[in-house]
Amino acid sequence: MAMAAALMVAVAVLGLATGGQAQLQYGFYKGKCGAGDVEAAVQGVVRARFAREAPIVAYLLRMQFHECAVNGCDGGLLIDGPGTEKTAAPNLSVKGYDLIADVKAELERRCPGVVSCSDIQILATRDAVALAGGQAYPVRTGRRDGRQSRASDVVLPAPENTAAQSVAFFGKLGLSPFDTVLLLGAHTVGATHCGVIKNSRLYKSGGRAGATDPSLDPYYAFVYKTWVCPDTPASDNNVVFLDDQWSAVQVDNNYFKLLQRRRGVLAADQNLYSDGSTKWIVDLLANSDQFHLLFPQALIKLGEVGVLTGAQGEVRRFCNRFN
Ligand code: HEM
Repeated sequence: MAMAAALMVAVAVLGLATGGQAQLQYGFYKGKCGAGDVEAAVQGVVRARFAREAPIVAYLLRMQFHECAVNGCDGGLLIDGPGTEKTAAPNLSVKGYDLIADVKAELERRCPGVVSCSDIQILATRDAVALAGGQAYPVRTGRRDGRQSRASDVVLPAPENTAAQSVAFFGKLGLSPFDTVLLLGAHTVGATHCGVIKNSRLYKSGGRAGATDPSLDPYYAFVYKTWVCPDTPASDNNVVFLDDQWSAVQVDNNYFKLLQRRRGVLAADQNLYSDGSTKWIVDLLANSDQFHLLFPQALIKLGEVGVLTGAQGEVRRFCNRFN
């Protein structure tokens, strides 16, 4: 009897579900941060940042992906120091860490040690997507921050991925082919660098010197080769918008329309249209409003991959170091 009562108390205190594993919840922080509303506080910081730097939406979306695809959404990407996830090659161009630190500082002032860095990442991305014209969506919270971060764990998809490789990558995270195409739709915002596409798309397609990828619209190839990414090492850091310049901070389905016109920037983008198994999804998202409704669903799923809850991990005081 006493044992059962103790278990009930543990369940209540730790928020453990009957399976023994605590669950994420809507409004997990309600009543846990004095009179303040945690989600409104996050939104306030994101809104102020978006007003002066709209590309923050791209930084946060990419961060959520690189965070959640490597050992789950546990804040591991945020840790500073030698050999951490942040130092792995694909993460060297991830941005937006300062926004997470700003939100954390604001919340620590209001209620120290309560809100996890991993929840901040998910909430901030959600808010930025809505500010950039995407659909607003509710997210469950209650994530805890992990106690490990290793560069050697970082395995992320290559920009030359075939559709099958991309689908397989997300499949390992429990996401479907449809989710895969939706999530790559995050390339509706943000940019890449010439260095990423020069070989595979412009000058050495298929490993052949001088070959341009035939799946790239010849007009776009001409523009990139002539003005944006000329064949000199100096152009490696030039910026190429993944959608087009005018909608690079707009969450919309234009990315899919570009794929229909062979104007995807990365081979991994265009391959979603060249491959029969995903082409129909691109067509559906390009020709309807479904992306608006479904992109949030895919982000929610990505944001719940491998989360820590209950008594697992910790709530960091500073997002860039363990307690
Ligand atoms: C097969 C899957 C994917 C591949 C191969 C891929 C690859 C890349 C590459 C190479 C860049 C450019 C990096 C640079 O030049 O600095 C990039 C940027 C970006 N990626 Fe992906 N990505 C994938 C999936 C995703 C997903 C699932 C998301 C988010 C849900 C995402 C969001 C972004 C965003 C927003 C940017 C622009 C970042 C900025 O402007 O700073 N990507 N991606």
